[in-house]
Amino acid sequence: MRSKIVAGNWKMNKNLDETETLLSALSAKLPDTDAEVMVAPTYINLTAAVRNLESSKIEVIAQNMHFAESGAYTGEISADMLLNVGINTAIIGHSERRAYFGETDDILAKKVTTALEKGIRVMFCFGEELEDRKSGNHFKVVEEQLKNALFALDNAAWSNIILAYEPVWAIGTGETASPEQAQEMHAFIRKTIGEAFDSSVANNVSILYGGSVKPGNAEEIFSKPDVDGGLIGGASLVADDFIAIVKAI
Ligand code: 13P
Repeated sequence: MRSKIVAGNWKMNKNLDETETLLSALSAKLPDTDAEVMVAPTYINLTAAVRNLESSKIEVIAQNMHFAESGAYTGEISADMLLNVGINTAIIGHSERRAYFGETDDILAKKVTTALEKGIRVMFCFGEELEDRKSGNHFKVVEEQLKNALFALDNAAWSNIILAYEPVWAIGTGETASPEQAQEMHAFIRKTIGEAFDSSVANNVSILYGGSVKPGNAEEIFSKPDVDGGLIGGASLVADDFIAIVKAI
């Protein structure tokens, strides 16, 4: 059985005080839910976030990690460093990392390998750009992204993978994929994984949708059979909005 998941990617937002305030509000308002609820504050506040949420069901996750074990990689953070402060899940492959920090499929494949070797669960992000969708290439682009970063894995590794389909044209734009577009792509992703691995891998992997999910549209998107939850940007920075989205799952 795959999990339902709602995760907040805070990106480069919230200083330490703001982080503590938002986390306290989220813990206080968190409804009783079977879904996994996660937040990804910025690196510098991960330790404080883990402490703040010690007695909460909300999991703190990282926005990124480096593929190397340790060494001369100025400004980077390793898997061991994350584990050491109590982080067990990392977002890998966000479109902003791909677009602004030159993260290629090859680099992402290395990050995934390292994360899994170290026992870190991977939330792998991917999705097409607007031109890809306009030219009808969106399925091909998505398939390539998955193939290049994840298809060398063995079946067992998939129990530590969460997928997050985030069409780049829907991120931070206020324009979401329609629930039908999300379902169509999620069904395609599940079919592609079923063909490359097997049906149990495909049926057990959680596939989240990300891109302008808000309290007003979450319920309809989450109602689709292949949408297992959401990766939320802007709306995860406001406690009431994020909680409303958690309630919609
Ligand atoms: P928005 O919800 O702000 O569109 O961001 C989505 C996202 O990039 C989550 O990783």
